[in-house]
Amino acid sequence: LKQENQQRIEDAKELGDLDKIRVNLLGKKGPITEVLRGMRDLEASERPKVGAFANAIRDELKTAIDVQRKALEQEAIANKLAKETIDVTLPGAPVRQGTPHILQQTIDDLEDFFMGMGYQVVDGYEVEEDHYNFEMLNIPADHPARDMQDTFYIDQELLLRTQTSASQARTLERHDFSKGPLKMVSPGRVYRRDNDDATHSHQFHQMEGLVIDKHITMGDLKGTLLAMAQHVLGADRKIRLRPSYFPFTEPSVEVDISCFKCGGTGCAVCKQSGWIEVLGAGMVHPNVLIAAGVDPEVYGGFAFGVGPDRLAMLKYGVDDIRSFYTDDVRFLEQFQTEG
Ligand code: PHE
Repeated sequence: LKQENQQRIEDAKELGDLDKIRVNLLGKKGPITEVLRGMRDLEASERPKVGAFANAIRDELKTAIDVQRKALEQEAIANKLAKETIDVTLPGAPVRQGTPHILQQTIDDLEDFFMGMGYQVVDGYEVEEDHYNFEMLNIPADHPARDMQDTFYIDQELLLRTQTSASQARTLERHDFSKGPLKMVSPGRVYRRDNDDATHSHQFHQMEGLVIDKHITMGDLKGTLLAMAQHVLGADRKIRLRPSYFPFTEPSVEVDISCFKCGGTGCAVCKQSGWIEVLGAGMVHPNVLIAAGVDPEVYGGFAFGVGPDRLAMLKYGVDDIRSFYTDDVRFLEQFQTEG
């Protein structure tokens, strides 16, 4: 029994098999237990001998099992380690890296352009007071222009701003003209109660521009906007000014940028006319200056509100504004840039 089983124990290759052997040999129904149990039928004089013999065999087998178990366990650990060693010569898995959103890239590009021309970049508030979003901009409570920019009110006085022009009003009110002229741009999100479609989003972006000094003319405005359009979209772009109306500018214009009907970038967004509207602008209304405590007899200037969403659509040939806001990685990855 001993020899036969010692051999079986040494041959066991799996911990599970070894356990089975242990239960069969040493368990309650095993042969050794049986011998010990059968001792009551033996002569009293024989019992100690048989008992000692059976116990000795049991101990030896038990030791053999323990030794084999240790060996198997060690082997398992060694195998695991061997499997898990790292081959440092293998090429690494590529790390997925994010990239600035094309809308952000467009805004950054605009900021760079205007900073290069001596403008300061000002942050405004997305939750704005009615006072700055409307009143200071020559849009009193009963003004029909409020309908054009119906928005989300938080309470009587607070709303989600409909235009970055609110930031224009704040900056103008703060500015100390004894320190020099005012030149600022202010980018950010704006909100309108619009139904979303390919060209409308209830939330989009604007970048406000404001220049106030002595002797600023509409020619300055036109030159600035042309330079901006050509900086963002290329030197072959033209701009076109159409008369328009905003309560805070007089005269007011809507500005279109030329686009290429097909084949070129922005084909899908370019209207049949070959022009696309990207901003509103004009010469700052005297009432706006007065409201901010600036003398319209001495100072004047221009303001504009450009839409980075539209510019990005033109530049990258995106035909649905909603693509900017749905965070679909497949869309974003098309515009992956280095670093
Ligand atoms: N705030 C205007 C708009 O939202 C754009 C604009 C800005 C027009 C500044 C004139 C001057 O449409």
